Amino acid sequence: MTIERTFSIIKPDAVAKNVIGQIYNRFETAGLKIVASKMLHLSQEQAEGFYAEHKERPFYAPLVEFMTSGPIMVQVLEGENAIARNREIMGATNPEEALAGTIRADLAGSMRENCAHGSDSIASASREIAYFFSDDEICPRTR
Ligand code: PPS
Repeated sequence: MTIERTFSIIKPDAVAKNVIGQIYNRFETAGLKIVASKMLHLSQEQAEGFYAEHKERPFYAPLVEFMTSGPIMVQVLEGENAIARNREIMGATNPEEALAGTIRADLAGSMRENCAHGSDSIASASREIAYFFSDDEICPRTR
């Protein structure tokens, strides 16, 4: 059994739709535990830094603009194969391609306004968690 931690964002569109609880419920139902969580309104600098790997992509500016458009929830999820599990629950980046029953198929409107972000590898999870949380903000869950 591989217990992992992954980093998750509930994006501005989902916060505006008031579906934070619905999304948390999906994490918990899938066996993922929330071990850290907070609401933030990203600055331009924070969003640009977080998405720096996409700097040369055509969607970079619209992505940064969207991610700074309103509050987000950031959280650390823990559980068996948490990275893959979380991406499974989110569904494909494009909501039109996401499987029925996933967050993006059920709640998202477009490639840009796609409700959620989840780390795609162990290295990304580690970098992304450290970008938003200090060690003392993460609460190990023993049960
Ligand atoms: S890639 O090429 O596979 O790394 O890119 P991808 O994972 O598909 O997308 C990376 C993030 O960019 C967002 N995205 C967009 N934002 C705005 N407009 C457009 N057209 C667009 N296309 C992709 C996508 O939602 C990803 O955001 P995160 O937060 O990483 O899920």
